[in-house]
Order: sequence, then C-alpha cells, then structure tokens
Amino acid sequence: MALKLEVEHLHKQFGDLPVLQDINLSIDSGAFISVVGPSGCGKTTFLRIVAGLEPATSGALRIDGKPLAGPGGNRGFVFQNDSLLPWRTVLANALIGPEVAGRVGEKERKRTLDLLRLVGLGGFEHYFPRQLSGGMRQRVNLARALAIDPEVLLMDEPFAALDAQTREIMQTELLRIWEQGRKTVLFVTHQIDEAVFLSDRVLVFARRPGRLQESVEIALPRPRELSIKRTPEFIAYVDHIWKLIEHDVRLAVIEEHV
Ligand SMILES: Nc1ncnc2c1ncn2[C@@H]1O[C@H](COP(=O)(O)OP(=O)(O)OP(=O)(O)O)[C@@H](O)[C@H]1O
Ligand SMILES: [Mg+2]
Repeated sequence: MALKLEVEHLHKQFGDLPVLQDINLSIDSGAFISVVGPSGCGKTTFLRIVAGLEPATSGALRIDGKPLAGPGGNRGFVFQNDSLLPWRTVLANALIGPEVAGRVGEKERKRTLDLLRLVGLGGFEHYFPRQLSGGMRQRVNLARALAIDPEVLLMDEPFAALDAQTREIMQTELLRIWEQGRKTVLFVTHQIDEAVFLSDRVLVFARRPGRLQESVEIALPRPRELSIKRTPEFIAYVDHIWKLIEHDVRLAVIEEHV
C-alpha cells in the first residue's frame, strides 16, 4: 500500500519548552490512525504541524512523498468544539472550505449536499447551528472537513463534547463514512476504547517531552460494530494501552491540580 504520510525526526519546541521529541512515523494511504496520550503530551501540536498550521522546529514531513509546506486542500481539520458560524446555515457552513479554496460552483454545492446526507443531515441544509444538537453540529463540522475532499482527515477530539451515547453513534457513523471514502485519518482522543474501536493503529504518546511511546496495531476485523467492545480481544487492547499511559496520566492530573 502507498505511503500517505511520513514523519522523520520531528521535533517541536515552544521557546525553551520541548513539546515533541523525535517522532518517526509512516502512515499508509487509507489507514485510520488514532493518537492517545496524557494531557499536554503534544497531540494537538502534532496534528497542527501535520495540518501545516504550526511549523516544526526540525525534522521532515512528507505527504505522498512531497515535503509538507503550509496548510493545503489535501488536509481537512475537525476540531473539538464545533467552529460553525452562527449566522450561516448548515449548507453555507459546510461550504466554507470550498469557498476559501475559491471553488463554489454547482458541482461543489451538489457534492456538499451529498455529504450532508452522508453524515445524516439530509433535510437540515437550511437550519442554523442554534437549531441543532451538539451531535448534529459535529456532523456539520465533519461534512465541512470532507467538503474540500481532503486526502487526509485530521480530527482533534471531535466527539469530546458529546454525551456517551451520541458519541458511540458518531463512532459507528464515522467508520461507515470512512469505509466509503477511505481517507487517511489521524484521530486524537482521550478515550482509549474510542481509539481501539476506530483504528488500524493506535499511537501512544508519552509526555515531557511528548514522544511516540508505542504504536499498537489493532488487528480486529472490520466492519466493526459496537458489540466488539465487549470481546476479550478488544478489552485486552484497551488494557494494554491504559497500562502504557497510566503513570503519565496520573502525573498530568496531579500537576493540573496543584
Ligand atoms: N502556541 C503555544 N505556545 C506555547 N506553548 C504551547 C503552545 N501550544 C501548546 N503549547 C504547550 O505545548 C504542550 C503540548 O500542548 P498540546 O496542546 O499539544 O497538548 P495535548 O496533548 O493536545 O493536550 P490535551 O490532551 O490537554 O489537549 C503543552 O505544554 C502546552 O502548554
Ligand atoms: Mg489537545
């Protein structure tokens, strides 16, 4: 399979603070990759560097073998909090990406309407964000990121603000959408079971400075249904990853409360 994203000896420092240290990765085209790790280990920073929103201090990043230079239409970003414009309808929000890229013709409108249907928002095109639930707003965010037809989808805790049941539904929906388009996905989450459920591989980051501690292949069959979360294989993956980060998570929690 072709390599989509390569990261070599990536370092990132904010002033004197080393945040990411010597990250090395190769990600296959069409793979679903999650990133987990304690608060402050550099997950968001890593995603922002891949998005081209933040420069690396040193190291090389390549997409399709080409050096990464700034933001680009081949990467779509979904943030934790929905970043919808309240005065725009669902459709107008979803069209922001193509608009910024200078392409909003009939073709883009039709494609975006199809995407809204794909994320389960058919019939809501003319609603405003305040008329939608949190889960629906995150679906608009997802449709918006997909509207530019990115090759790589970067998602930073996209479901963190959702209640537990909505979140599980969104996980299965995201997999369904991914199975259809097979984008390469980098998905940051704090929830280990979410990472295991979604991913081909889970990157476990450690902190101080942030570094790749282990890359865990998830050899569970696809398509996956929520019931897989109750299988011994699934639970063993979750246990293994939790053991890797438990110590760091405890330290992070203590530091946040002193
Ligand atoms: N723009 C910035 N300037 C200075 N320091 C920053 C900046 N952005 C992040 N940091 C620092 O870099 C470290 C990593 O932050 P980052 O947001 O990447 O962590 P994270 O793993 O996403 O954490 P969380 O799980 O809480 O979202 C933190 O110590 C943070 O304070
Ligand atoms: Mg973060």
